[in-house]
Amino acid sequence: MSATPSTRPLTTREKKARLVRAYVGRHPVWCAWQVTYRCNFRCRICGYWREPHSPAEELSVGQFERGAVNLARHGSVIVNLAGGEPLLRRDLAGIVAALARWHFPLMTTNGWRVDRGRARELWDAGLWGASVSIDYADARRHDDQRGREGAFAEALRAVETFRDARTAPHQRVNIMAVLTAGNQDDLEGVVALAHRLGVNFMVQPYGVLKTGDASHRPRPPVSERLLDLRRRYGGFLSNPYFLSRFDAALDGGVTGCRAGMATFNIDQRGLVAKCVEDRARPVGSIVETPMNVLLERLRARWRTNTCRACWYNCRGEVEALYTPRGLASALPMLLADSRARQARKRAPRVEDPPGQAGG
Ligand SMILES: C[S@@+](CC[C@H](N)C(=O)[O-])C[C@H]1O[C@@H](n2cnc3c(N)ncnc32)[C@H](O)[C@@H]1O
Ligand code: SF4
Ligand code: SF4
Repeated sequence: MSATPSTRPLTTREKKARLVRAYVGRHPVWCAWQVTYRCNFRCRICGYWREPHSPAEELSVGQFERGAVNLARHGSVIVNLAGGEPLLRRDLAGIVAALARWHFPLMTTNGWRVDRGRARELWDAGLWGASVSIDYADARRHDDQRGREGAFAEALRAVETFRDARTAPHQRVNIMAVLTAGNQDDLEGVVALAHRLGVNFMVQPYGVLKTGDASHRPRPPVSERLLDLRRRYGGFLSNPYFLSRFDAALDGGVTGCRAGMATFNIDQRGLVAKCVEDRARPVGSIVETPMNVLLERLRARWRTNTCRACWYNCRGEVEALYTPRGLASALPMLLADSRARQARKRAPRVEDPPGQAGG
């Protein structure tokens, strides 16, 4: 892989070629970049809103530009922008534009107060996909889970706004659900909602590390039911390999985590760690530390890692790429133009790269 990326923005074809080379070269292909840890919600399933965070600790757009170039030294990657609530950053379009020169920026959001102008600004800046978190098809239950009245109505509006503001075939919109003990029997309603709206659906199981509260954990078995939903709804994008391991993940955990090898995390200060749950043990800074040094340190963390505490979709969807069955179903999805593929499908479907939501 070339040491220094070109000074001009790469074309989509060049970025895809660099992404494939990163994969073949066993370099990371996916990273989560938490642009802020501030949040305007009070979700029961997530503890980030309880932590004190200030905008002063966050990277500037200029630092994102430097970080994006450093990140590009080993290839192009899928970068999922999340947090905290990424839309709280008014300069998010600048962050997206900095990343889109070399990479594939995605975003996961609670969808609060997205208007057409904001959605258009993000698509125009180069956003590749937007995932809006919706856990229930019932407004009252979603609002209760998210700790904010009106959360469901706003999320629904955000899905429609992102969907209708798209300007290019590759731009992808998803509803992203967290599978919990509370919604595991009603998830079909959310899948059907995505289907009705003509957007994709993705799911990840609740992870205990964000709250320490095990009461939200879904009760296995769940995999067969999820696979059945996936067979029945065309826009259910989650990789079948990923879904097939939910039961194992909920009953002792899945071994062989590739965090640090295939995926990694960057926090709001630019600190790099093997995964979001390991952010207290950074290996360096995406702005200051040369990428080859970061990669060596991340690999060292990966080699000694025995953790199996989560099955977030950033983990499971990317690990699917390293199994023959998972790769076969994921790569065409990643590389094909969504509307060309959509034309070949009966159900409405806008394709999506793996690992969009992240933990
Ligand atoms: C941490 S949030 C950040 C982005 C944004 N604030 C949102 O809620 O979409 C990223 C994703 O993780 C999900 N999530 C939150 N708590 C979780 C948990 N304990 N286990 C698994 N996923 C969780 C959210 O629903 C969302 O889809
Ligand atoms: S899940 Fe998202 S919206 Fe909810 S508290 Fe966590 S960061 Fe905020
Ligand atoms: S299994 Fe453990 S090390 Fe791997 S991504 Fe999840 S929390 Fe991080």
